[in-house]
Amino acid sequence: MNKRFPEGFLWGGSTAANQVEGAYNEGGRGLATSDFARLVDAETRKREGGFEEREPHNAATKGMLADMKAHPEHWEFPKRRGIDFYHTYKEDIALFAEMGFKVFRMSISWSRILPNGDDEIPNEEGLQFYDDVFDELHRYGIEPLVTLSHFDTPLHLAEEYGGFLSRHTVKAFEHYARIVLNRYKEKVRYWLTFNEINNVLSNPFTSSGLIFDGPVNPLGQNSYIGHWQEKFQAVHNQFVASALAVKACHEIAPDAKIGNMLCRLENYAESARPEDQLQVLFEDHFNWFFTDVQAKGEYPYYMKRFFDENHIHINMEEDDMDNIREGKVDFITISYYMTYIMRYKGDTVPKPTGRLVSDLKNPYLPKSEWGWTVDPIGFRITLNHIYDRYHLPIFISENGLGAVDHVEEDGRIIDDYRIDYLRQHVEQLHEAIEDGVDVFGYAWWGPIDLVSSGTSEMYKRYGMIYVDLDDHGSGTGKRSRKKSFFYYKKVIASNGADLENDIAY
Ligand code: BG6
Repeated sequence: MNKRFPEGFLWGGSTAANQVEGAYNEGGRGLATSDFARLVDAETRKREGGFEEREPHNAATKGMLADMKAHPEHWEFPKRRGIDFYHTYKEDIALFAEMGFKVFRMSISWSRILPNGDDEIPNEEGLQFYDDVFDELHRYGIEPLVTLSHFDTPLHLAEEYGGFLSRHTVKAFEHYARIVLNRYKEKVRYWLTFNEINNVLSNPFTSSGLIFDGPVNPLGQNSYIGHWQEKFQAVHNQFVASALAVKACHEIAPDAKIGNMLCRLENYAESARPEDQLQVLFEDHFNWFFTDVQAKGEYPYYMKRFFDENHIHINMEEDDMDNIREGKVDFITISYYMTYIMRYKGDTVPKPTGRLVSDLKNPYLPKSEWGWTVDPIGFRITLNHIYDRYHLPIFISENGLGAVDHVEEDGRIIDDYRIDYLRQHVEQLHEAIEDGVDVFGYAWWGPIDLVSSGTSEMYKRYGMIYVDLDDHGSGTGKRSRKKSFFYYKKVIASNGADLENDIAY
């Protein structure tokens, strides 16, 4: 069947400032939490007893942070150098344009605009950088879709205020959002508030800006599970901050649209046992919760029991719920990478698992070298679930495959595995659209190789554009086109109608 995607469908790619820009101490930028994300490569995992197939998070605890500051020479921080997009954005955007991108999803580094996160006066050099990036995109007719906060809270706010545990950070975020909305209102039509806001349950170094102390396993993970009081309080404050940004966007740039961003976790029961299905329901609730609040403007009924039974008390200010109600998002965005298997854990009330990669294997699905299952049909299923629940337009802000690439002697990278992944997911996306789901765009995660969020590796590559840099920053930084570059170009040129992998490369 010939695939038909809607006219004007936004094909493109997705990145985040902290994973591409580098130049962490240039242009007046202040420090961010992501500047302290250490490299956790295969060697580190082996040395420190990492889990074989589980994604470790390279976050720092308070104790580690102190050591990182005192002895930076003991650590490697690849996000500080990224792929040098700060200096190469013109060359990189030209390559996106060559692939035919209609949209580029990126984030603004808060600490490039406000070095401490809460400065009154913005840093003009930082503002000018994004002006230049947006102008460059528009030169090629590429629409910027901009995330306000993608895993890089200004360090000052994280250290001094506990990130979003404090209302001070909410005010600072609104101030920051108003500055960039005013500055770029003529240039940006699509905004997102917080990247994967739900990841606070599985990763301490998210946009929440929470840094915990406490027992740490050898990988530096200390808060997969627990800290519920702090986490849900910070999340509530982020809901308020997000709603204030939505309201500010509607007021400052009435023609623009602003959405959420959920790391969508689609769960399957391990068996037909009702208990396993109950576990799916529990886990689902911890995923839907975030979008329920951001899209429906109220706390869902099912959280009350969890809060009560776990003695979680959310401190709210008088107008919080009004703001949340008035600050509902215009559209939904998700990242979709994999699906999960659930087995009943014996609880009568839900507890979030807090893991990014499931312990249970799905025997029907292949998985990536990092243990992430590959499940294109799950993509169609999840899109139907989302649309059924919210009836709002959907944008796929991330989907992609992290893999090890091999460079041939002649410099080619024949990444048919990436092409397969893309083709299968675009096929299922098409099915979902045929089902009636309103999807208006698809952004491949990491169209250019970038620093991994979870492990800070370069070795885990997502790109259609190869970047000659290794985990330790060695290499020329040169960009080259992988086979998937030409494949995606063809997919976009045919508006998704031609998915044949017949690329001569
Ligand atoms: C999402 C994040 O969680 O997944 C991205 O929004 C991240 O920042 C992507 O890069 C893939 O994860 P990883 O750990 O493979 O980089």
